[in-house]
Amino acid sequence: MTTTDLPPTAPHRPTGERVLTMQVNGEPVAALAEPRTNLADFLRERAGRTGTHTSCHQGWCGACTVLVDGESARACLTLAVQADRAEVTTVEGVEDPDGTLSHFQQALIEHTGFQCGFCTPGFVVLGTEIIAEARAGARFDRDELIRRLSANICRCTGYAGIVTALESALESLESLEPARQSAPRHGGGEAGA
Ligand code: FES
Ligand code: FES
Repeated sequence: MTTTDLPPTAPHRPTGERVLTMQVNGEPVAALAEPRTNLADFLRERAGRTGTHTSCHQGWCGACTVLVDGESARACLTLAVQADRAEVTTVEGVEDPDGTLSHFQQALIEHTGFQCGFCTPGFVVLGTEIIAEARAGARFDRDELIRRLSANICRCTGYAGIVTALESALESLESLEPARQSAPRHGGGEAGA
């Protein structure tokens, strides 16, 4: 548990600052936040999870995408207080506990879909959400994958590698053993893949 900012009653705290508690990548975090603190800043500066990056700070690019209770959210537009007591998954939380990459992460490497440090975390988290939906029964054709991935912006490439990697990861789901398919580690993510 992150306790470096505790206790909340220490002197000289800005008015309104309070302790938030949440599960971040399966681990309990408790840290102070002001009402105006966004979730991206909280995760990076208070919870020590610096894998979440911001770029536009305005909800356009998707670079800051995390899962909050299993659903993708713009961490730059989500107040940290909105995630109080929630289960949050960042890019650091989609791999296996032993560090084994998720199917989608591995597929991004194999299909040259990994990109820069700013946009890649958001794409990994968004793809993880899509794969979780597929595990729950949703079906996606390539056009639908392109539409979903268009929520995140890359200024540099044509998305082809990312789409192909996600397509490949989804196809490989059918060959996974049932126990691993039914046991995502965090927030509906595909960490068990
Ligand atoms: S930094 Fe959050 S959407 Fe761009
Ligand atoms: S914005 Fe990351 S590779 Fe283009």
